[in-house]
Amino acid sequence: MKEIVEIAQEAAMRGGRIIASSIGTGDTMQKDSTYNLVTDADRRSEEHIAHFLSQEMPGSSILGEEMHRAALESDRLWVVDPLDGTTNFSHGIPHFGVSVAYAETGTILAGAVYDPMRREMFSASLGQGATLNGNPIRVSGNSRLNQSIIATGFYYDRGETMEKTLGALHALFNKDIHCMRRMGAASLDLTWLAAGRFDGYFEYTLSPWDFAAGLLILSEAGGRAIDARTGMPADLFASGLICSNGRIHDELVACTVNAPRLGIV
Ligand code: IPD
Ligand code: CA
Ligand code: CA
Repeated sequence: MKEIVEIAQEAAMRGGRIIASSIGTGDTMQKDSTYNLVTDADRRSEEHIAHFLSQEMPGSSILGEEMHRAALESDRLWVVDPLDGTTNFSHGIPHFGVSVAYAETGTILAGAVYDPMRREMFSASLGQGATLNGNPIRVSGNSRLNQSIIATGFYYDRGETMEKTLGALHALFNKDIHCMRRMGAASLDLTWLAAGRFDGYFEYTLSPWDFAAGLLILSEAGGRAIDARTGMPADLFASGLICSNGRIHDELVACTVNAPRLGIV
């Protein structure tokens, strides 16, 4: 019998093939604003993944960004982002992924994030460690914020969340971080942190499909993640994240939790 993580990996890879073959086809549409986009590839990927998962695990439920609306508390739940990084994708920027996680009554048990352009498969099962293309990964060993590279993301918002993010960037640059990155795919931000490419990542507004798989992969790689709103250890019910390699955590939290409001937006 296939392990659950293998099903997640195969689902993510199948979705990845669909989106990678559609890049540059220019089928972008707007969702609820001119800057929140969706493409035909998002929908085709989700449809294909949902069909595959329901065949592999009959009776399981699916929460997918575009079309599937099961409850987060469901007893056998797949949480799917069929194309994470749609803005990159629709501009022909080859940095996006597919995220598939499996949870039982709110506990994330397995996850896979696939980057089809680099052919990188990140995955984890609870208690089993995290891997990249089958090889174990670990967060960075850097313990100094001023030697860190920090990733962030901007939610589809031009108000409060944007303002808070800009304030945190201001605070981090004041602490002389090496630099920050806004790559454009939250699932890959988390897995790149898990693989030691970043030292920290924060984003104040996220949805479960953005982070469910990446959060497990990060914690299995030795990282630390808190819910940006409550400060408690992050779980499937978080709505924003502050994450790190563990070593720079307190310094990162100090810059991000009470970030100054710059009054720009
Ligand atoms: C978005 C990306 C982006 C993050 C946004 C997400 P989408 O997901 O992960 O990096 O900043 O918050 O919504 O819309 O491309 O699936
Ligand atoms: Ca997403
Ligand atoms: Ca998406």
